[in-house]
Parts: sequence; C-alpha cells; structure tokens
Amino acid sequence: MAPMLFSLLLATTLLPATSQSASLFPYEKVQLTREHVESLPEEDAQMFAFEGQFEEEMVEAAVNKTPARCRYGPDDGKWPSEKGWQKLAKQLSSTAALIKTIPQASVCYPGSTADDAQCQALTKNWTNSYTHIDDPTEILSPIYQGLTCVPPTIYNSGSCTIGGYPAYVINAKSALDLQLGINFARNDGLRLVVKNTGHDFAGKSAGYGSLSLWTHGLKDIQFYDNYVDESGYSGPAIKAGAGVQAFELYKAANDHGVMVVAGEGQTVGVMGGYILGGGHSPLSSLYGMAADHVLGFEVITPSGEFTTANSSSNQDLFWALRGGGGSTFGVVTSVTVKAFKDIPVTAASWVIDSSSIGKDKFWAATRAFLDRFTDNADNGTYTYLTIAPNGSNISFIVQPFFAPGQTAKQVNSLLGPYLSKLTALNVPFSPKITEYKGFYPAWQGEFPLEPQSDVSIAVGSRLFPRSNFQSETGRNITFNVIKDTVEAGQSIVAFNMAPTLARGGNADNAVNPAWRTSILHAIAGHRLDAKSSTSDILSARRSFTNGTLQKWRDITPGSGSYLNEADRLEPNWQQSFWGEKYARLLSIKKELDKKDVFWAVNAVGSEGWTVESVNGLPNENGKLCKVNGTATTTSKAPTSTPTAV
Ligand SMILES: Cc1cc2nc3c(=O)[nH]c(=O)nc-3n(C[C@H](O)[C@H](O)[C@H](O)COP(=O)(O)OP(=O)(O)OC[C@H]3O[C@@H](n4cnc5c(N)ncnc54)[C@H](O)[C@@H]3O)c2cc1C
Ligand SMILES: *[C@@H]1O[C@H](CO)[C@@H](O)[C@H](O)[C@H]1NC(C)=O
Ligand SMILES: *[C@@H]1O[C@H](CO)[C@@H](O)[C@H](O)[C@H]1NC(C)=O
Ligand SMILES: *[C@@H]1O[C@H](CO)[C@@H](O)[C@H](O)[C@H]1NC(C)=O
Ligand SMILES: *[C@@H]1O[C@H](CO)[C@@H](O)[C@H](O)[C@H]1NC(C)=O
Ligand SMILES: *[C@@H]1O[C@H](CO)[C@@H](O)[C@H](O)[C@H]1NC(C)=O
Ligand SMILES: *[C@@H]1O[C@H](CO)[C@@H](O)[C@H](O)[C@H]1NC(C)=O
Ligand SMILES: *[C@@H]1O[C@H](CO)[C@@H](O)[C@H](O)[C@H]1NC(C)=O
Ligand SMILES: *[C@@H]1O[C@H](CO)[C@@H](O)[C@H](O)[C@H]1NC(C)=O
Repeated sequence: MAPMLFSLLLATTLLPATSQSASLFPYEKVQLTREHVESLPEEDAQMFAFEGQFEEEMVEAAVNKTPARCRYGPDDGKWPSEKGWQKLAKQLSSTAALIKTIPQASVCYPGSTADDAQCQALTKNWTNSYTHIDDPTEILSPIYQGLTCVPPTIYNSGSCTIGGYPAYVINAKSALDLQLGINFARNDGLRLVVKNTGHDFAGKSAGYGSLSLWTHGLKDIQFYDNYVDESGYSGPAIKAGAGVQAFELYKAANDHGVMVVAGEGQTVGVMGGYILGGGHSPLSSLYGMAADHVLGFEVITPSGEFTTANSSSNQDLFWALRGGGGSTFGVVTSVTVKAFKDIPVTAASWVIDSSSIGKDKFWAATRAFLDRFTDNADNGTYTYLTIAPNGSNISFIVQPFFAPGQTAKQVNSLLGPYLSKLTALNVPFSPKITEYKGFYPAWQGEFPLEPQSDVSIAVGSRLFPRSNFQSETGRNITFNVIKDTVEAGQSIVAFNMAPTLARGGNADNAVNPAWRTSILHAIAGHRLDAKSSTSDILSARRSFTNGTLQKWRDITPGSGSYLNEADRLEPNWQQSFWGEKYARLLSIKKELDKKDVFWAVNAVGSEGWTVESVNGLPNENGKLCKVNGTATTTSKAPTSTPTAV
C-alpha cells in the first residue's frame, strides 16, 4: 500500500505548534493501524496483526506456527517463504526498505558478488568506523558477529557466510516500518534485533537468522526554545530521531546556542542504545548521565503499539527506558532531551611514555594522576585516558582532559598539584592546553574518530567507586590492580568522571546506581588469537573474565559495570548493570513483552534464552533458543567477596 494512503489512516492527533511540547515527526505520523490490518486478506492480516488484535490461536494457525524452542532460521521449513517476505516488503513505506543481507566483504570471496577492486577498497576502509555504521548489518565489535565474512587480509574466514548477521533488514523510514517488522517477527516466530549504528560492545545489534530493524535513517531534529513539561521543566529542549548521531546532535544544538548531554564518541547513536543504556558524557561531572535529562520518548512496544512515554504518560516505561538498556522494552523512534546554555570549555592533552623515563618513574607519574581523580572530577572535569603497553614501552595518553566552564588559568591551577609531582619526579610535562568558546568546537577539536575494533579484541569494564580513592591504602590497592593489568599486557581505556549529581536533571530512573558513586569507568581490552582453537579462546576468555576482571571486582565490592561498554561474559550481570533496580526493570519487561519479542544478550529479562552458537564461542552466530529446563528470572546477589578498601 502506498505511504500516501497511510497518512489518511492516521490515528494520532497533533498538538498545536505553539504549545512547545513534543509533536510527532512526519515519519512518526506514518503508522500502522488496526483498521488497515483488518482490511487485508485474512492470511496477511494474521501476519501483520498487533499483539492481541486477533485470537492467539487464529494467528498461530494462519501462519502455521506454534511457539518453538528456537526462533525459526532460514534453514527451517517454517521460515517465511519468498512470497511472505515480498508481502512484508509491499506493506513497508517503500518496498526497497526490505534488504536481504549480503555481507559487504562478500566481494572478497568467490561467488557471484566477487569483485577484486571493491574488495581492495573495502579492505583499505575496513578500520574506518563509517564503513560499518553506514552498512545495514555490520557491527563495530566484529568478534561477536562470528568473523564469518571479513576481508581476507584482515582476517581470513576461508569463505563468506552470513554467520551472525541478520537474514533481512528493514531500513526504517517510518513508525509503520518498525511496527510491521515487530508484528511480522512476533507472529512468525522470528528473531528480532535492532541496529542503529552497531556500536554495542557485546554484539547486541546483530543476530543470526534475525529480522533487523535499522533505525539509522531516522535523522529528524527539532529545537524548542521553551519546552514546557508536566514535570515542571520549562526551557530549551531538543527532540531527535533514533538515528541521530553525536556529531549531528551537537551541531544542531550549537546552531541554537545550546548544548546537550551526549557522548564523547563522534558517531555514537545518541538516541538509541546510548541514552537507553544511561550514557556518559564529557559533561557528566556537571550534569550526570544523559538519561537524567530525557523529557520523553516516542516508542513502539513489543505489541506493535506506537506510544509516548514521559513524566505523565506510561511512567513505568519512561522510568525503564532511561537506563534500562536497548532492545528490551520496544524500539524508540525519537527522544526529547533538555538543552542547556552553552559554556566555554578548556581542554588539555598529553602523552607520557615509559621508554624515555623508565618504568618506575612512569608508574609514579601515572599514580600521581590517579591521586587527582577525585578533585579533578569534583571540579567538573572528564578525562579520557589510555594506558597502553606496546612491547617494553607503556604509554599514558590523556586525550583529552576536558574542563567545561573553565578557563586555561583554572585548568593550569587544577593541574598544579600533578605538575608539581611530575616536576619532583623529574618527568617532563608539556600539555597542550586549548581554550574554546563553546562546547561544540571543544568536542570537535578534542575527541578523535574511533576506529572499528580489531577482530581479536574482547573487552570488559568496571565502575570504580569514590571510596577506592579516599585513603592512601585504597589508592594503593586500586593503583596496583591497574598496574598489574597493564603489566600483564592488557590495555586500559578509562574515563575519570563523577556523574553523581544530575544538575538540572532527574536521576529517578533506571541508570545503574553504581554510576552515582563512581569516579572511574575503566575498560580493559584483551587480545585473543582469533585463529586459535575454540578451547584455547574460551580459556583465554576465562582468564580475562574470571581472572583479570575478577581482581577488579574484588576491590570494588557491590559496584557494577556499564552495560553499554561491558564484557559479553559479565558474570552476575543483573546486579552488575542495574543493582537494586533490576527487580523493577524485570517486572516492567515481563508485563510489556510476554512473548520475549525483544531479546539481546544480558538485557533485562534475557535469562530464558541463549544463542546456541555454531562454534561454541560467545557470539551471535547461531540460533536463539530457550535455555533448556532452567528457571529463568531471579536476580542474584553479588558473588564477589567484599574486600576492605
Ligand atoms: C567508538 C565508541 C565511542 C563510544 N562513546 C561513548 C560515550 O562517549 N559515552 C557512552 O556512554 N557510551 C559510549 N559508547 C558506547 C555506546 O553508548 C554503546 O555502544 C551504545 O550501545 C551505542 O548505541 P547505538 O544505538 O549507537 O548502537 P547499536 O549497537 O546500534 O545499539 C546498541 C543497543 O541498543 C539497541 N538499540 C539501538 N537503537 C535502538 C532503538 N531506537 N530502540 C531500542 N533499542 C535500540 C540495539 O538493539 C543494541 O542492543 C561508545 C562506543 C563506541 C564503539
Ligand atoms: C572510504 O571511506 C571514506 C570516508 O568515509 C569515503 O569517503 C570513501 O568513499 C570510502 N572509500 C571506499 C572505496 O569505499
Ligand atoms: C506526554 O505524553 C502525553 C501522551 O502522549 C502527551 O499528551 C503530553 O503532551 C506529553 N507531554 C509533553 C510535555 O509533551
Ligand atoms: C577542586 O580542586 C581543588 C584543588 O585540588 C580542591 O581543593 C577542591 O576541593 C576541588 N573542588 C571541589 C568542588 O571538589
Ligand atoms: C608500538 O611500537 C612500535 C615501535 O615503536 C611502533 O612502530 C608501533 O606503531 C607501536 N604500536 C602501537 C599500537 O602503538
Ligand atoms: C613509546 O611510545 C611512545 C608513544 O606511544 C612513542 O612515541 C615512542 O616512540 C615509543 N618508544 C619506543 C621505544 O617504542
Ligand atoms: C602505599 O604504597 C607506597 C608505595 O608502595 C608505600 O610507600 C606506602 O606506605 C603505602 N601506603 C599505605 C597506607 O599502605
Ligand atoms: C567464570 O566463573 C563462573 C563461575 O565459576 C562460570 O560460571 C563462568 O562460566 C566463568 N566465565 C568464563 C568466561 O569462563
Ligand atoms: C537443549 O536441548 C536440545 C534438545 O532438546 C539440544 O539439541 C540442545 O543442544 C540443548 N541446548 C543446550 C544449550 O543445552
């Protein structure tokens, strides 16, 4: 059916343009209606029906499906026929919106798509994150795709197979497209995934045999200079589509003289997984988490319903979407967030490496910076730092030390105690310090574009609480664990910030409570030999997750990890990602998604299902199946032994 006709079938009413509360974007007004479903031939109506629109038995009989142990895959007899997929395509806002997956590196392998020149071009561009973000099925942590189709000089997979990529993608251009995708997957027993940019660290935006909803094209942005919300807020706000990325949002905010709380990464999908998972920001030590500033979401729930969640409507869902994680409670089509008056920023960056000064001085200098974590974060700054071993050389890289609202003079004085320490150690120090007029040029000037992850990297992370840094004993213990991790060959990327207070925000949400007491979010990267045997890889992963990272957990009892930048094998993830908020999140999930339409690894309510990967490694290359005969749902108490710090 043509999109034109759908605009006539609109179920929604528009608020007057002057009211300065969120109105729907044009693409959100193109919706699937019950009337339209009922107007279709019966078999098709069952295929696209909302949950509960018809009797359950009728839907199951019509699509000839009963709930099975695993979601149906392309090899199953009950996988939709070509004709079924064509029917889906025909209902979408454009038939071209349905894409059958062809992995982009298929040009590098024998077959009908082989193309040497294209393969060379792709290989050259492989580490460029845009190559993957702008592709319908790629993800930025390729290890979780299963490495089944990578350019041979990057990783030779022998042949190109679809592996953990979805089978089909809906390149969504309207709410209608997303509603149809959800209903089709639910009614047909298919696995559903959501991909926005593919940044997720654990592979949550891919999945074998799935229908993927790609939200990347939902780019609308609307500025309000005086948005009035039922919760009492009145002031500037921005509503942005689910596909809007940091570089686009920051530019739009800057065009209106405001700034918003969003990520450091240039290409992160701010209104997708980022804000749904909480979202840390260069402004976090002043404003808390990005999710603290959400005014409302437009969202399509697992039943296929388009709805609004804000402080006065669907309050439980509103609470859960602010930190409860992506791909769990529905697919978000846009988010409205508070905006703040722009402020000047000063940033500093520097590198210290051990080759010129020796290891002892290097570690003493690193320790001197760690001793400043609390004061620096409490002064509103955000530091992005890397400690990376390279052979016998270790580098300590600050890129950048970001000080919103401060002048170069203030930054020099804040760095003063660190400088004195380095001078006493006789370590040369000449940071590059730059004053910027506003947030946008500072962010543009200071945060580099991050590349596609290496095929052999797995990561894990931990939130280190303020209490670890309060006493010299605590700092000694914490520092020694970090130093041991690096000396054992892992690199660390870490963020020193204190998202304790949501200045001007509302922290009554699902954000991991561990964030509020933390001073350091540290990520360790572990290099694996992707070509070694399954058992060798599993044992390397065990020593990382249960060895290296267990040491981090042991010295941070009761704290947690950031779900958006976490180990896929995170133990006790319910407590780790949500602490005492898990029980409420789980009850909201169960109420909203009785059929587990939305599933992602380690997402709220994901306990009942697992990916049975074909090679036994933790990745998306296998069917999503019910966990055999186990009780599923209770959140466990922390298992790590408390250690005094
Ligand atoms: C280079 C880089 C820089 C980063 N910088 C930061 C940073 O500064 N601060 C920070 O907090 N994090 C940062 N992250 C982590 C980032 O927040 C997560 O990777 C996040 O999941 C990205 O969301 P996305 O929508 O862009 O990615 P995707 O991988 O596409 O999606 C992530 C998850 O959210 C789900 N999802 C996506 N869109 C929707 C939607 N519309 N509705 C429902 N579910 C959805 C997906 O299914 C998936 O489960 C960074 C990651 C990378 C790789
Ligand atoms: C490589 O990436 C750049 C930057 O995104 C792009 O402009 C260029 O077209 C790409 N080249 C190829 C051959 O894909
Ligand atoms: C909150 O959602 C309700 C229901 O859609 C809507 O009527 C109301 O205007 C929304 N509030 C704002 C401030 O947009
Ligand atoms: C800012 O840093 C200074 C200098 O280290 C310190 O004395 C002060 O307590 C910090 N400010 C706050 C608000 O913590
Ligand atoms: C490691 O050091 C070598 C030699 O100095 C250099 O060529 C290489 O680029 C470095 N690697 C990284 C990842 O920094
Ligand atoms: C050590 O690392 C630094 C920064 O990464 C680099 O400039 C330097 O050349 C390296 N030294 C050696 C000996 O590899
Ligand atoms: C901390 O470590 C240093 C260096 O090893 C040591 O000299 C100091 O006594 C330790 N302090 C405490 C309180 O343990
Ligand atoms: C870590 O240990 C736990 C408990 O023994 C185990 O269940 C888990 O599988 C281990 N994780 C890894 C990655 O081996
Ligand atoms: C679950 O049981 C089925 C058979 O009923 C079996 O094929 C499958 O491998 C089992 N999966 C797991 C994870 O044990």
